[in-house]
Amino acid sequence: MLVIGGIPITAIVQEFGTPLYVYDANMIRERYETLRGAFPSFEIFYSMKANPSLALVGFLQTLGAGAEIASAGELFLAKEAGYDPLDIVFAGPGKSDRELEESIISGIFAINAESFRELEHISHISKLVGVPARVALRINTASGLSKTGGGSAGPLHEQMSGGPSKFGIGEEKLERLAGSWNKRTIEIVGIHVYTASQILHEDEIVENARRTVAIAERVEEITGAPLMAIDFGGGLGVPHYKEETPLDMARLGAEVEGVFEPFSKRQDCRLILELGRYLMSESGVFVSRVIELKESRGQRFIITDGGINQFVRPVLMKVRHEARVLNKLASPTEGTAKVGGPLCTPIDITSEEIHVPDDIALDDLIGIMNAGAYGYSMSPLLFLSHPTPGEVIVLDGELIEARRRGRPKDLLLNQEPFPGRV
Ligand SMILES: Cc1ncc(COP(=O)(O)O)c(C=O)c1O
Repeated sequence: MLVIGGIPITAIVQEFGTPLYVYDANMIRERYETLRGAFPSFEIFYSMKANPSLALVGFLQTLGAGAEIASAGELFLAKEAGYDPLDIVFAGPGKSDRELEESIISGIFAINAESFRELEHISHISKLVGVPARVALRINTASGLSKTGGGSAGPLHEQMSGGPSKFGIGEEKLERLAGSWNKRTIEIVGIHVYTASQILHEDEIVENARRTVAIAERVEEITGAPLMAIDFGGGLGVPHYKEETPLDMARLGAEVEGVFEPFSKRQDCRLILELGRYLMSESGVFVSRVIELKESRGQRFIITDGGINQFVRPVLMKVRHEARVLNKLASPTEGTAKVGGPLCTPIDITSEEIHVPDDIALDDLIGIMNAGAYGYSMSPLLFLSHPTPGEVIVLDGELIEARRRGRPKDLLLNQEPFPGRV
């Protein structure tokens, strides 16, 4: 039986039903503390895109995290959750005028400019609203993760820098920076380098740190002014496959700290790590209930009440998430099955392979593991019009309802009937 924070999963489900996301907040806190211990010179910013549930965003704030946002919606949630605007940075390859206006007026620490055009545009918006904007330059590094020599980032890494990319200003164009911004409207406070997500090789991350420090030094030479912040991104991954091992955080932290020493020695340069999945992914499980068992021409299927409409990652990102029968973890298993949700589409397979306990039965609970990041908010929740799942946090033996389960009538939200119909 899976027990989270001392509470059996059956008791959690009895109270909140299925499908349900359950998050172990003690694990999130441990992850945060591990980062603080390994990277003492860095501030930890939570990348809200990983999981924007208000209660979780608020929990991270109580631990001391800042917020990395990517939309006006995330800005709104971060403010609702109590973040100081000076602990918010905004990254994203396309920001609307409204998003820029709100960010500038809110006084966030930095808007990342991802092109010279955007730098000019931020200046223009700043003039319109009459408030200077703090900007960090997002740089697309000349090289990215190495592909050979034991340097692969693992099967899942999502690269955003080091090649053609919609993110950031090409490192080779940096010379154009000299004198290219209006000092009355724009204050360049820092740089942002984000190479990739889901990296599981310490050496790759250390190499990213070296590239970032070299770029920081170059930007200082070009602008003639010291940087107030370096946002090194992070990209720290979590294992999904047997052959993957967790990052050695003590080693990684020590090496990255060493690379950043010229900047950490200064008192006035903020060093930032922005992370989502490392903090959240393994804390979460997506729980659904078995509603059908069948065998079709030699293939076994377990059909559950939650599908890819509520946890799409396995098909969208082509990532295998371990699936387990949560209330029968100790039962002997006999063979394997595919797990599918209730949707009328063949792509609705949340797990290609689950080990089936020999006493599998209707109403058993299936858990899709590693579901704390890019779960609820990444999923096409309206597809096939099922009620949205609930979200529950387990913290110090207490259950906190973070989001209640949706109701059929929520489907009417923002909709109008065809004229003349009730
Ligand atoms: C700019 C930026 N920062 C942070 C993140 C968070 O990545 P992760 O959840 O892998 O830590 C992403 C992910 O796409 C990103 O694009």
